[in-house]
Amino acid sequence: MSVPQQAFLRDAMRRMNMTRDAFANRIGVSRRALDTWLLPDGSQESRAMPEIVERFVSEIAGRPERDVNYTQSVDTTHTGSLASQLSREGKPQLLSVDQFSRDAVEALFRVADIMQPIAQRKKISRVLEGAVLGNLFFEASTRTRVSFGSAFCRLGGSVCDTTGFTFSSMAKGESIYDTSRVMSGYVDALVVRHPEQGAVAEFARATNLPVINGGDGPGEHPSQALLDLYTIQREFSRLGKIVDGAHIALVGDLKYGRTVHSLTKLLALYRGIKFTLISPRALEMPAYIVEQISRNGHVIEQTHELAAGLRGADVVYATRIQKERFTDESFEGYTPDFQINQALVESVCKRDTLIMHPLPRDSRPGANDLSTDLNHDPRLAIFRQTDNGIPIRMAIFAVLLGVENQVQHSMRDAAWRPPAYLGPDDAPFHGVD
Ligand code: NCD
Repeated sequence: MSVPQQAFLRDAMRRMNMTRDAFANRIGVSRRALDTWLLPDGSQESRAMPEIVERFVSEIAGRPERDVNYTQSVDTTHTGSLASQLSREGKPQLLSVDQFSRDAVEALFRVADIMQPIAQRKKISRVLEGAVLGNLFFEASTRTRVSFGSAFCRLGGSVCDTTGFTFSSMAKGESIYDTSRVMSGYVDALVVRHPEQGAVAEFARATNLPVINGGDGPGEHPSQALLDLYTIQREFSRLGKIVDGAHIALVGDLKYGRTVHSLTKLLALYRGIKFTLISPRALEMPAYIVEQISRNGHVIEQTHELAAGLRGADVVYATRIQKERFTDESFEGYTPDFQINQALVESVCKRDTLIMHPLPRDSRPGANDLSTDLNHDPRLAIFRQTDNGIPIRMAIFAVLLGVENQVQHSMRDAAWRPPAYLGPDDAPFHGVD
């Protein structure tokens, strides 16, 4: 069985770093034809790409043909295989985005593209049948915990969860070392979230199992950053843009927000990014991250003025105030002049600006987090972003557990059908069909 044409074409565009228009032009077809080849199989307007086009694309993109061991060719040319980048001290672990080169990011996205038919509930796979995931969450979580669990289940595995310190033996004084070693006898992979920076790395040192950092205090959240960048790339593809040269405005709690720490570092792997860092004075991006992304010809602007900072941005990435990390309780929340809402977006954003947020957004009165009045605006990409958590997390598991080459062959048709659109406010391009 060969790789789906959508995954094949997306990979070729990424490799050639081309917008859809430029790519259509390069291969001598209309943008409309290319769009129909990229639609999910089974959707009314989807069409099969002619074989001659496939051969030509293989040739110019330097890709193997679709039926040759496609994911194995995840050659990250200068830096070793994807699996080797997703390992530390010889163990399969995802602890920080610092492990990634740009090639490795794109190789992971190629695996995520292959997962799409499963994420869209058209196909099922049992490649992880018999494997058990330990989801250890010592901090609040809805999407990270459930989407990691769901991703593991959709590959045929099963999940054991513990939530909070109260219900784990850490409340009885058990060390991270002991907890990690004990869990290793019960499960086959661990996802860990912990309030202290560096604690997940400590879990990882005490086991030879795959360990994934699901957020370590104000440190990092690598899987979130990967799904954020995957979202940006997919949305940009639809909008005719590429990541190189993009203007990204990051807004809010840049001091404690681990998602923005990981995302800025990941984006810095691309070329010529303009970062606008917009935060209240007390919540500026840590200097070590600004220093790390200051290389490679990126432009970095820091401001406390929301409206001015958003002007011209291709992506606006808003964040919640991480109140749980404050030692000084005097900071209450965003003032109203820090809120991103429809009126502000209308006045300073472009027609194709993406509005993102890792979620949860604090929708309580007075929080002034990203406003719900944008819910009907198709520029709001927050739920497309959360949906992308599934293929990305499936790809991470597949690579860490070494089954990425078996997924394509393992797929069978799903017996049930989901609704064409998952949410009532989904834009037309946001269906599962
Ligand atoms: C974020 C986190 O936990 O860092 N949530 C998430 O995983 N999507 C952001 C937050 O809690 O504000």
